[in-house]
Amino acid sequence: MPVVDVVNLVSRWLHIMAAATAVGGTIFALLVVLPAAGVLAPEAREAFHVAARRRWSKIVMGAIAVLLISGLYNYFTIKHNYRELLPRWYEAAFGIKFLLAFAVFTIASLLVGRTSLAQRLRSNIRFWLSANLLMAALIIAISGLMRTTHPAAGPVPKPVWAKTGAETDN
Ligand code: HEM
Repeated sequence: MPVVDVVNLVSRWLHIMAAATAVGGTIFALLVVLPAAGVLAPEAREAFHVAARRRWSKIVMGAIAVLLISGLYNYFTIKHNYRELLPRWYEAAFGIKFLLAFAVFTIASLLVGRTSLAQRLRSNIRFWLSANLLMAALIIAISGLMRTTHPAAGPVPKPVWAKTGAETDN
């Protein structure tokens, strides 16, 4: 496999790993951590949330950085390699995905922050985590759709009508 294809594959892996970590962590926070912390006394619960937030914030920032770097790399590589194949709606799908990802990143960063806005958002934390999960589900659906428009690696395939008689499927 050519080196450039290996780099593209690694970038794809990193993107999927970061997305799985961020989305999986959000599901865990909403459905496990928040309800389970309810059994603690108010003071212990607050101390637990502060400690959990301190750890989770590093993972959130790392995931955002990896998603942005690998996502931009993937985008420009795919545009460069498969320009002729991509339908016109590819750009629009990418634009919508980018805006949704920006909203998800903003909410996720605010929820682990220390500002007064962060504190206000956290008073309605279930709503904001659910909103982020809904947007993440849309992002994954859009990404899957974008993925159908081109091969994972290798040369641009010839259109069916350009195949010779020997190459046709039957
Ligand atoms: C919450 C944030 C994000 C999630 C959950 C997410 C998720 C995904 C998933 C599941 C894929 C499909 C991977 C594959 O089949 O190879 C993908 C592909 C992709 N993502 Fe993201 N992503 C996020 C953010 C971003 C950002 C910020 C960018 C750009 C700066 C980006 C650019 C891309 C590109 C270009 C692809 C390839 C699409 C294609 O195959 O045509 N993503 N993403």
